[in-house]
Amino acid sequence: SALNPVPEKDCRSITPPYEKLQANLQKVRRLLDNRPLTLAEKVVYSHLTNPEETVPVRGETYLKLSPDRVAMQDASAQMALLQFMLSGMSTTAVPSSIHCDHLIVANNGADKDVEASIKTNKEIFDFLESAAKKYGIAFWKPGSGIIHQIVLENYAAPGTLMLGTDSHTPNAGGLGTVAIGVGGADAVDAMAAIPWELKAPRVIGVKLTGQLSPWASPKDVILKLAGDLTVRGGTGHIIEYFGQGVDSLSCTGMATICNMGAEVGATTSLFPYSNSMKSYLAATGRSAVAKAADANRDFLRADDQANYDKVLEIDLSQVEPHINGPFTPDLSTPLSKFKDFVKENNWKDDLTAGLIGSCTNSSYQDMSRAASLAKQAADAGLISKADFLVTPGSEQIRATIERDGQQAIFESVGAKVLANACGPCIGQWDRKERKGEENAIMTSFNRNFRSRNDGNPSTMNFLAAPEIVTAMSFAGKLSFNPMTDSLTDKNGQPFQFQPPQGDDLPKQGFEAGRATYEPPSPTPTPDASVNIVVNPKSNRLQILEPFSPWHGDEFRGLRVLLKVQGKCTTDHISAAGVWLKYKGHLQNIAENTLIGAMNADNGQINSALDVTTNEYNTIPYVAKSYKSQNIPWVVIADHNYGEGSAREHAALQVRYLGCPLVISRSFARIHETNLKKQGVLPLTFADEKDWERISGGDVIETIGVKDLAPGKPVQLLVTKTDGSKMIIDAKHTMSHDQIRWFQKGSALNSASAEA
Ligand code: F3S
Repeated sequence: SALNPVPEKDCRSITPPYEKLQANLQKVRRLLDNRPLTLAEKVVYSHLTNPEETVPVRGETYLKLSPDRVAMQDASAQMALLQFMLSGMSTTAVPSSIHCDHLIVANNGADKDVEASIKTNKEIFDFLESAAKKYGIAFWKPGSGIIHQIVLENYAAPGTLMLGTDSHTPNAGGLGTVAIGVGGADAVDAMAAIPWELKAPRVIGVKLTGQLSPWASPKDVILKLAGDLTVRGGTGHIIEYFGQGVDSLSCTGMATICNMGAEVGATTSLFPYSNSMKSYLAATGRSAVAKAADANRDFLRADDQANYDKVLEIDLSQVEPHINGPFTPDLSTPLSKFKDFVKENNWKDDLTAGLIGSCTNSSYQDMSRAASLAKQAADAGLISKADFLVTPGSEQIRATIERDGQQAIFESVGAKVLANACGPCIGQWDRKERKGEENAIMTSFNRNFRSRNDGNPSTMNFLAAPEIVTAMSFAGKLSFNPMTDSLTDKNGQPFQFQPPQGDDLPKQGFEAGRATYEPPSPTPTPDASVNIVVNPKSNRLQILEPFSPWHGDEFRGLRVLLKVQGKCTTDHISAAGVWLKYKGHLQNIAENTLIGAMNADNGQINSALDVTTNEYNTIPYVAKSYKSQNIPWVVIADHNYGEGSAREHAALQVRYLGCPLVISRSFARIHETNLKKQGVLPLTFADEKDWERISGGDVIETIGVKDLAPGKPVQLLVTKTDGSKMIIDAKHTMSHDQIRWFQKGSALNSASAEA
């Protein structure tokens, strides 16, 4: 029997405020003439900050939303918290949590790996933990589990809106949450009660009918859908599932489907409230949430006759197992055709490793179905031919599969159980033995970009359900079809797998496991007396200084640092890769500012004219030199400046190095907003041909910034290096609120002024 069962939780902070949400929705409904709404619309619109004045049009209106919750993983939490500290608030405006999962390297087994990570990343974990204590944020220590699994087990709730600083945040859609992956700056908005902006998503409806056949699993639904929709097919959309087929799926299976919706670019994915959600809530100690959801069932499903932008239909009984990859998640092949696919491509018929678990597929159902196959193989005297690695998504899952015997089965066939962390899913896998070798692996994870798992660009990585990964690991061959092919047992007789079996939820309930990793309660209390731990000598963390407010006058003597030509993404402005370790240290990461940008004056990458020496140098070098001489500088940019990601560093860094405005032909919208949040004024040329008239080294004076108002153009007086002068017209998209951010120096300065 259970030794340490998961107790019923204190659900006060995690029960959705249904009454308020429904009242908000009524206001929006009236403005929409009571037309039937999709579930995605109901949940999103009920979180509007101004429901009485917004008429949402899908794909057009920018919505101002107030999320219910924020979750952050350890890598992206650093800059989010450093910024939040500037707000001057004593606690976060919404319940928030930090999860230490990305910084653990899989090497010597669970306990040793966690220990090693705590040593190498001590300063990061100390910082995160102290900030969590100070502001009342739940802190999940290294070893507790992966952010999305912990959120599903503890915080997700039907009908809520949450933000997570990780792209697979949509996992919580399996429990009816609109859960959206964002950058740190967006998380800071929610924590500092700044309305969070989202363009009203379009909605793709996926109608599910029938029931999965014994070999197929929820993972196969999304593997197939990824093939149909491709990696861009979901962009700007929420994928909403409906239909009678929903009732046959487990809550965790629906989470898997939502998790991997990120692979088709969807804003998020969502399921309506179902009985399996109710059972999962009860099994994870949240009966009170289930009770509240039960009383709001109508709110938690789409209205009859709801209108989707596009409807797809999937008959679950026709879904066969799929294998996707290599190198892209939308290259989808049905298992029955995979053997031929391998042959056609002339790939070596060798599977070197099978990896199951991760945030995508480590539910009790996944583990018990995979273990049922491993048990059949063990009984036939087989051990896994391929290396076989298991990543439990949480301490709760690990402890439960240890108690119920699945872990022992895996270990008996040669599996290694890794820490409850991301590990090989995010390249934290010290796979010395295969460095540079051409080989193939199969995982039950969600992403398979080249090099993602072991850093080896020659590793072909395929995605499949944990059951398929497990069975194929015994064959050690890509061409093996576990549904039809045989292996040879210990007596030399043919052995064929029977379909996997397993329970959705543990019969004896979940085992809580070692509580040492967990925060004290769902709502930790803030403690103002806590000092946030940052070593002033650290090169990975640095306390941020608030940016200075606007000086109240026109800008004069702005030096054009460089004129950028062509594509300039957030990667060009703030590169990733080796720079990731400085994510929490603005000064150090600023050393990469614009190093990918091309200078239009000389066609060189990472090159800027230093007017004080009349020599070209690297962009960060010249920017720093201007900063040290109090010379404010600007960037002249081309089209769609800042496209790519929501990376707030791209805006923070230029601001930090002394750039008060960026003038472009056009901006990528998220980056434009990020610049505004950091107190940088983004301007566009009224006539985009004027881009050609400015060069590096020119001096700019603004006309009209003193009277900045929404919709009111400004002008730029440009003095060329030969002394000639011209006036250039410019536009901006600053709202009243955003002008306040600019005047105060940043959005956070303005929030703290109000706090
Ligand atoms: Fe971690 Fe991989 Fe999920 S990095 S959060 S396990 S997608």
